[in-house]
Amino acid sequence: MIDLHSHLLPGVDDGSRTVDQSVRVLRAFAAKGITDVACTPHLLGSNVALGWPPAYEAAWAELSAKVPEGIRIHRGAEVMLDRPIPPAAADRKVTLGGSRYLLVEFNRMVPAEIVGRALAEVSHTGLVPVLAHPERYSSCTVETVRAWRDLGTVIQVDATTMALPRSRGDRARDLVRAGLADILAADNHGDERNVATALDWLGEHDGADQATLLLETNPRAMLDDLSIYEVDPLPVKKTVWRFVRRMFESE
Ligand SMILES: [Fe+2]
Repeated sequence: MIDLHSHLLPGVDDGSRTVDQSVRVLRAFAAKGITDVACTPHLLGSNVALGWPPAYEAAWAELSAKVPEGIRIHRGAEVMLDRPIPPAAADRKVTLGGSRYLLVEFNRMVPAEIVGRALAEVSHTGLVPVLAHPERYSSCTVETVRAWRDLGTVIQVDATTMALPRSRGDRARDLVRAGLADILAADNHGDERNVATALDWLGEHDGADQATLLLETNPRAMLDDLSIYEVDPLPVKKTVWRFVRRMFESE
C-alpha cells in the first residue's frame, strides 16, 4: 500500500517531533504492508514557487538516513490554498514525488465556490490538484465533491476518518461509496493513524477492487506521474442494508 499524505518530517510542522518518532511510525506502516510514504509538511500557497524551506531540507536528510527497511519515502507538501498560487507553481518544486500532482488543503469553513475557483486555478498552471480530506470541510457534500472532481481534481479521503461515527465519518464513507474518492491516505502526524484501517470497512462492503485502486494502483500512478483510474461506486446492496439498519437503530 502507498500513503501520499503524512506529517513525518521531524520538527517542521504540527506532525512528528523527532526522527525516532517518525521511524516508529514508519515501522508500524511497514508492518501493515505499506511500502511508500510521501512526507507532506504544511506549506503556504504563496511559497510553492520557492520550494522547500531549509528546515525541511535538513529534516528530509535526517529522516532519509534512518528510513526502516521496506519503506521508501517521497517528497511533497500539503499546500494551503488560502490565496492564489503563483504561476511558477508549475515548476513542480513541491509536488508529490516531483509529479504533476499537488496536494492542497483549505480552511474548514471555506465555501464550496472558493474551493472550486482555487482548484481550477491550480489546474490552469498545468498541475493536478489533489484535494486533501474534503470530508473535513463544512461545504463538503457528494454533490460539491462531484463538482470539484469534474474540474480535474483528485480526491483524497482520510482512511482513518472512515472509521469515525456520524458526520465527518459519514461524509468520508459516502464519498467512497459514491466512487468519488480517488486515493486514501492517513494524514499521520507522528501518531497511530494508518491507511490499513480502511481495509476492514472496504472488505465488509465488497470493496476489494476499490481498496486496490485507492491504496495501491492510483497512488502508484501518481508517483509515476501517470493518469489515475476511475474507482467504481461500492455495490448498492450493502448501502440499502445500511439505511434499513439505520431506520431500526433510530427507533
Ligand atoms: Fe495533512
